[in-house]
Amino acid sequence: MKRDIITIGDLTNSEIEEIFDLADQFLKEMSVPAHPHRIRGRRTDAQSHLMAALFYEPSTRTRFSFEAAMLRLGGNVLGSADAATTSAAKGESVADTVRVVENYADFAIIRHPSEGAARAAAEYGDIPVINAGDGGHEHPTQTLCDLYTLRKESKALSSANVMIVGDLKNGRTVHSLVYALARFGANVIPRPAKGLELPVDVSRRLIEEYKATPVPARQFFAGNEEFGDLDVVYVSAESNLGLVPAKQRPRLDSDVNSGAPHRGIDVVYVTRLQGERLAGGEKRGDYPVIDKSFMSAKRFRDTSVMHPLPRVSELSYDLDEDPRGLYFKQAAYGVPIRMALIAKVLGLIPFVSTEPAPEMTLYSREDGIACSNPRCITHHPSERRHLRKKFWLIKTRPAMLRCIYCEHNYAPQCYGDVATRRYTTDLAELDTIYSDQIVFFGDEAQARETGFKPETATEKVRHG
Ligand code: NCD
Repeated sequence: MKRDIITIGDLTNSEIEEIFDLADQFLKEMSVPAHPHRIRGRRTDAQSHLMAALFYEPSTRTRFSFEAAMLRLGGNVLGSADAATTSAAKGESVADTVRVVENYADFAIIRHPSEGAARAAAEYGDIPVINAGDGGHEHPTQTLCDLYTLRKESKALSSANVMIVGDLKNGRTVHSLVYALARFGANVIPRPAKGLELPVDVSRRLIEEYKATPVPARQFFAGNEEFGDLDVVYVSAESNLGLVPAKQRPRLDSDVNSGAPHRGIDVVYVTRLQGERLAGGEKRGDYPVIDKSFMSAKRFRDTSVMHPLPRVSELSYDLDEDPRGLYFKQAAYGVPIRMALIAKVLGLIPFVSTEPAPEMTLYSREDGIACSNPRCITHHPSERRHLRKKFWLIKTRPAMLRCIYCEHNYAPQCYGDVATRRYTTDLAELDTIYSDQIVFFGDEAQARETGFKPETATEKVRHG
């Protein structure tokens, strides 16, 4: 079966560790002592393979590092740096493009402005698809680079406190990263620009699926006023499991007066305002700037600074010579990490660990509830004619649907039986009676508009 990497959830923790180990091996064999984080030379693993790069949005690091990775594995690349030079400009759908490209290349990487575009490509194509960033949704390969950088720079991920600054609402790197941090035991500390907080769907998922506990920052930092600008800390349930044996992580001195243990911040992860994703009139607030003066606070004495790049003005050049800055190494590690990912996904160096994928119930009907996220690929002019509505039924008590493309969640208010054309708002029994006869509605008005009537005492909604 082909392997698609669309979200960071498409890789298990053991697979991520295998990718890191392989990246270590590539670096060991191919870097030169003067630049231990750079790959040089060429292998032959992928000599009979071609990678197609489909970029519908600008890119420097992701595209170049994927191309460098493929070439250094001995493979070749096809692609256009600009979708305006492809048939996308004539209105060709992603679904058609991938079904053409699969005839030419062994796998594809795709970057697209719509959320869920990579999932749509993966659905239609019979070659592996890797998401190189889909709108404001996810950017799983950047997260691999981020975690790997942390691991390489000897910060134990377990119990690391990672403060994420900037546009947490639209930053796709942030969304993939927070899930991965929670999975590997790191604590997530959001410090958003005003109005650009973590989306509710993302924070809820952190808590409900990745079992992070939101703790008031005041409590987490034991009332230390130095951390008074922070609101909440998502404390990972896995905080004692690490990728690497925990080195003594830097901590602020303990407070001798109160005896309370002080906790430090291990990483400040800075992100750019995603201007291209702001709707007209959306409030931006004052955007935080991380510079030498900000980093001179005692609480950041031993804190690494990371940024997925490109930076605009949120990360000052005055930190470039500072040993705490890891952002150029982060970009360098893009090559060994993507080499390892490609080798694994193509099965050139297969994954060893095997974990069955969790069983999920797919719900797909053309009537009833629809994804209302305007940024979802299902609304894109080139795709909306052919993409069917598809959701994962992620739970039944209360019912929650997740668009399989953009992953926005929807809580239907009622459901009906297609045989009786009756609907009910009583969702309590759903988990026992769920079947493919059931249609979900956002609310009662939608049920009525679709021609369903409320259930009567004698004509209760039942599965068919
Ligand atoms: C990021 C992206 O494209 O989401 N860049 C990258 O791939 N390294 C971050 C950004 O553009 O702000």
